[in-house]
Amino acid sequence: MQPLSVGAEASIFQSDFLGRKAIVKKRAAKAYRHPVLDQRLRSARTRKEARLLREARRAGVRTPMVYDVDLKESTLVMEFIDGDKVRELLEERPEEADAVCYRIGADLGRLHSNRIAHGDLTTSNMILMPDGQLCFLDISMGESMAELEALGVDIQLFHRAFLSAHSSLAPSYESFLRGYLEHQDQGRMVLERAEEIRNRGRYT
Ligand SMILES: Nc1ncnc2c1ncn2[C@@H]1O[C@H](COP(=O)(O)OP(=O)(O)O)[C@@H](O)[C@H]1O
Ligand SMILES: [Mg+2]
Repeated sequence: MQPLSVGAEASIFQSDFLGRKAIVKKRAAKAYRHPVLDQRLRSARTRKEARLLREARRAGVRTPMVYDVDLKESTLVMEFIDGDKVRELLEERPEEADAVCYRIGADLGRLHSNRIAHGDLTTSNMILMPDGQLCFLDISMGESMAELEALGVDIQLFHRAFLSAHSSLAPSYESFLRGYLEHQDQGRMVLERAEEIRNRGRYT
């Protein structure tokens, strides 16, 4: 089977699950890691991704439904999300950037209000669905019961990733912030922490 995507950690395949279009995310063995530790690590990340996908959904944030988890094979089967990859959408239809960025901020605000950090928030890990919902993918580096620091790191990493992938859309970052602050009661505090993290990075 031809993968749709091959990342540093996992390969993505299209499949079906009981007649529904599905995505299989398989974490492959790494030869440079000790086999027992490698197996443990892949299985832990698979389990964590499945758990966080479910927790985010419970918090009202759209993520793919988890259909099946196979820890032995380090494989996750999930709902196939139809729509536009946000990274490509922003390149092709920059006139939509303000609305899309507001939406990213609003959904991240909802996620953070439930103390869930995403962990790898880039526009490659989001799909805008035809009905206007935004779906977050690839949440295995995130955490639940997240402290202020982890939420601040999310904002700081997104800021950096957004400016580097979409430098000409920099003004739309303001729409992201507006969406975030309107959906996260402690938003100001998190933004202050993100700023502090950015300054720390600058001087160390
Ligand atoms: N549930 C899904 N529905 C549709 N496309 C998906 C889904 N999961 C992943 N993809 C596609 O595969 C790509 C890589 O998946 P991702 O989970 O981000 O893995 P990686 O860790 O390799 O970045 C995504 O950027 C997206 O384009
Ligand atoms: Mg990804």
